[in-house]
Amino acid sequence: MRAPSGYLLAARYRLVEPVGRGGMGTVWRAHDELLHRDVAVKEVRLPSVLDEELRAELCARTEREGRATAMVAHPSVITVFDVVTEDDRPWIVMELLHAKSLEQLIQEQGPLHPRRAAEIGRQILGALRAVHAKGILHRDVKPSNVLVTEDRAVLTDFGLAALEGDVSITQAGIVLGSAGYIAPERVLGSKASPAGDLWSLGATLYTAVEGRGLHGRRTAAAALAALTSGEPIPMSKAGPLAPVLDALLRIDPQTRLDSVRASLMLARVAAGGSAEEPLAPRKPVRPMPQPGPPPSVARRPTHRGLHRAETATTAVAMPAARQERKPGEGVHRKRVQDRPTPSAYARFKATVIKLCLPRRFWPRELRKRG
Ligand SMILES: Nc1ncnc2c1ncn2[C@@H]1O[C@H](COP(=O)(O)OP(=O)(O)OP(=O)(O)O)[C@@H](O)[C@H]1O
Ligand SMILES: [Mg+2]
Repeated sequence: MRAPSGYLLAARYRLVEPVGRGGMGTVWRAHDELLHRDVAVKEVRLPSVLDEELRAELCARTEREGRATAMVAHPSVITVFDVVTEDDRPWIVMELLHAKSLEQLIQEQGPLHPRRAAEIGRQILGALRAVHAKGILHRDVKPSNVLVTEDRAVLTDFGLAALEGDVSITQAGIVLGSAGYIAPERVLGSKASPAGDLWSLGATLYTAVEGRGLHGRRTAAAALAALTSGEPIPMSKAGPLAPVLDALLRIDPQTRLDSVRASLMLARVAAGGSAEEPLAPRKPVRPMPQPGPPPSVARRPTHRGLHRAETATTAVAMPAARQERKPGEGVHRKRVQDRPTPSAYARFKATVIKLCLPRRFWPRELRKRG
């Protein structure tokens, strides 16, 4: 049963009002009465059919995942403040975001522009890389777990789908995760992996940009059959994001796009470029100097001259130009001495050099003579 508003959790967090509901429970805006700040509290609902031992195990597991997530400080990883077991169920206390989930955004605004989807994807991938580096998997990347604020995208609900592998839970009829966002290998029974999280990110971005889920209303099994049929994934609005989605949504985790390349590709699309630019930075192409219009005789000299002339006449009295020069005055170069006539051998050598070498390799003497 859901907790009532005003409920005081762990003698500290006062539940104020629900801000959202999902398959696993309710998210509350709550007030931390110790630190005097608002927080979000996820009240995880467990089915009443579960026996005591399993409940205790699930609470312990949620606490473990909460603790692990709290170790990762990243702007796109939700900050977990506390995990509490109370009333036989887990509660997760986290930062309260003024955000809409990606699912809500798509419902309200329709498909996102590929650049915007790429930027959200880039940030969420950053979160995944940060947690994967610590050995943590998300297991449930999907649009409702991506919260979008004014300036960042944040991944939430880490590790909750860890409960999924539990046979007793499946038997109890809880549907964890969403068919359209679970990697094909997991549908076939493989364990969760970082590559599985990347597939789910691909499916999430597909929904963001196409405005509909990859599998429509099909079940996971039917979706897998569609994916393995070899048909290309239908995309009509993905534009520059299409190659990234295509590579993230590969059935075989071995050939799936890895997170480093995915980051680069998403960053390029988010910046307005193409996902498939070569990895090596291209040399900037210098524009060739264009033969511009001939200098305007009427403008430049007159313009310059005018200012100078004005200054000269008003401020400085220029001395009159001298007509005669003293001997040697104004001669800046040495006079070229008359050269001796080259010998026949020297002439022959010069001819050979001229024929065989480009001009820039000729001896100086030869270059001067031409
Ligand atoms: N930290 C938070 N700050 C603000 N709003 C949040 C926060 N976490 C979740 N929400 C809101 O609560 C809604 C419900 O989240 P919740 O995780 O319970 O549902 P879900 O993701 O649809 O389902 P699931 O139970 O499978 O995770 C989200 O869509 C979001 O709008
Ligand atoms: Mg959620």
